Amino acid sequence: MSESGKRILVIGATGQIGSEITLELRRRYGKDNVVASWHKKGLSEQLESGPVEHLDATDCQSIKKILSEYSIDTVYHLAAILSAVGEKNPQLAWNVNMSSLYNVLEASREKGGMKVFWPSSIAVFGRGAPRFNTPQDAVLIPSTIYGVTKASGELLCNYYATRFNLDVRSVRYPGIISSETMPGGGTTDYAVEIFYEAIKNKRYSCFVRKDTVLPMMYMPDCTKAAVQIMEADPSDIHCRMAYNVTAMSFSAEELAAEIKKHIKGFEVDYEPDFRQMIADSWPMSLDDDLAREHWGWKPDFNLTTIVVDMIAKLKRKLRA
Ligand code: SER
Repeated sequence: MSESGKRILVIGATGQIGSEITLELRRRYGKDNVVASWHKKGLSEQLESGPVEHLDATDCQSIKKILSEYSIDTVYHLAAILSAVGEKNPQLAWNVNMSSLYNVLEASREKGGMKVFWPSSIAVFGRGAPRFNTPQDAVLIPSTIYGVTKASGELLCNYYATRFNLDVRSVRYPGIISSETMPGGGTTDYAVEIFYEAIKNKRYSCFVRKDTVLPMMYMPDCTKAAVQIMEADPSDIHCRMAYNVTAMSFSAEELAAEIKKHIKGFEVDYEPDFRQMIADSWPMSLDDDLAREHWGWKPDFNLTTIVVDMIAKLKRKLRA
């Protein structure tokens, strides 16, 4: 048992966010106190540094079993079908995203004394929401099934918090840039792919227009936001839907230009596909004042520092 007494289950520990949050949580709370669960994608050696479990989160009994076996008191539920894959199979996205969230909330309600983190997304916004500096309480009319599951999920979390007093906390993440694990089938994936292709081939064919602007965040800030909201005093959490959080906004072309400063001869062309329409329905920038006021949210990385760090990390990784 850690000093803080936390016993954590990460669902989706092999995903883009899960693979890095799991390691951060193990550093903070002790490796034996963080169970990494995985479903389809196999475990990396790093994740084997602590307890691991195979888990299909669409099966509520399996979640309940792990909560009880490991005396879990905190769940980070990060498993989801993302926006681009979701549009190819909306039925699967609804089923996986909604049933897993419902199961986590139900199993946690039944067990009692639980804390849950579940990420929402900028994808909750769509028609009717201002695209610049999108406010916390803008109308939620998502254009993708992924966004529909995130907006519905926020309502479900809010319901469990108010009706059953379940301590569930959430943030609306922008696009996440990371070096450890590739994102799996989202619209903001170009902001990660571009680094790999710049280093490996000095060429990238980008699937959104060069003037596409989206809010973004680097992985260390992504894990920071999750840990910070989970560590916040309950009296500081006044929103049980999900807090807007962001770090910066830039266009695909601005990202490419920043990478070109470090990789001479890097060339990018732009061939927008179906993901362009999704990007065009999302905010270009977010107003995250509420998260800053309520629980002290503040990102550390900007475009310049992300690009330096990503290139150094990926060069090491791709050489290895
Ligand atoms: N990064 C996600 C996606 O592109 C959005 O939350 O689907």
